[in-house]
Amino acid sequence: MEFALTQEQEMIQHAAREFAQSEIAPIAAEFDESGEFPEASIKAAAELGFMGIEVPEEYGGSGMDPISYALMMIEISAADASHGTIVSVNNSLYGTPLLEFGTEEQKKKFLVPVASGEVNGAYALTEPQSGSDARAMRARAVRSADGSHYVINGSKSWITSGPVAKYVVVFAQTETADGESTGISAFVLDAEQPGFNRGKKEPKLGIRASATCEIEMKDYTVPVENRIGDEGQGFKIAMTVLDVGRIGIAAQSVGIAQAAYKAALEYSRERKAFGSAIGSFQAIQAKLADMKTRIEASRLLVLQAAWSKAQCKKTGAKNTLNASMAKLFASETAMWVSHQAVQIHGGMGYSKELPLERYFRDAKITEIYEGTSEIQRMVIGRLETGLR
Ligand code: CAA
Repeated sequence: MEFALTQEQEMIQHAAREFAQSEIAPIAAEFDESGEFPEASIKAAAELGFMGIEVPEEYGGSGMDPISYALMMIEISAADASHGTIVSVNNSLYGTPLLEFGTEEQKKKFLVPVASGEVNGAYALTEPQSGSDARAMRARAVRSADGSHYVINGSKSWITSGPVAKYVVVFAQTETADGESTGISAFVLDAEQPGFNRGKKEPKLGIRASATCEIEMKDYTVPVENRIGDEGQGFKIAMTVLDVGRIGIAAQSVGIAQAAYKAALEYSRERKAFGSAIGSFQAIQAKLADMKTRIEASRLLVLQAAWSKAQCKKTGAKNTLNASMAKLFASETAMWVSHQAVQIHGGMGYSKELPLERYFRDAKITEIYEGTSEIQRMVIGRLETGLR
């Protein structure tokens, strides 16, 4: 077994760390407070090739491997989870369906501008009444009698980057002009066309600089050329994409946990109580030991999932198990570690003067989006038992 990073992976890790610590970390608190979308720093991330890191260069990306993507996500999220979310949506949720299932024309038209960071992309699966039970979606795409286009009606909620996206991958129940159901299909929509309406920006507990909104499609007409994959293949596309996205969220979780741990470790060496640094107390050392161990276990699960993603691509196997295990363990670790880091800081951890309370708020979403912990356990449990 080889645990060392390649030279290229080390290079990307180093570049992402340097960029994140110098350009993102100093503005993170300000953008968290205002809830504004960090346009300038996202553009700067795009210039470094971070918006389509696994996308081949001919489609506007950097042509790197899944491990490089995970390493970049850890570094960006250690500086600010909101930036991590924005970057991950462009890379995995928007980029993957086009890269894996798109036609050559779709890649040129819809992948190039997003992977190069010229515009933002989004992914619209969830609806007001269907979150975990994604197949229960109600959005409808009715195919015209001549087969040239679809008319889409329906609402999608919690759309990350929805307020700023130019293109959105949307899933809908398709049917023929005669009303016959043909299953769920995937489409890429131009958000600037008539019939695409964005709702108000959601005020959120954490990742506040990542913009989220509901979208509504009202008689939105989309040409058949914008359907990704076959009619009825949409749910499998959505799930395949989440197998990729969950690695990104797991990496984001490691980044948040790493930042919280680093702050707690430093504080435990400096802060004195009862005449000693609090880091000399067993109660604090035990916390730090568990934090460090869980973070490193999470990191290994993330890197394993990223590594196996590349292997699965060669064999055609699914990477679902490793992606779900990484997402489950790393997200719960981020929540637990950021909680412990606040506790070690005491009152200072509760104050907005330090980033600890932000790590704590940001960590929570990792246990919810791209499949809750309950869904990850269900996925892992089904795969392990072969039962449902
Ligand atoms: N890859 C490919 N195909 C898959 C798959 C996968 N990982 N998982 C399931 N499928 C296929 C199955 O093989 C099956 O195909 P057949 O009909 O041909 O047999 C089909 O999909 C249906 O599968 P299931 O019966 O397992 O489906 P289900 O209805 O029981 O649901 C689920 C499965 C895992 C619970 C799924 O609904 C799920 O993942 N739910 C969570 C949704 C989610 O993560 N939402 C997050 C939204 S995105 C987000 O958060 C974005 C953001 O803004 C950051």
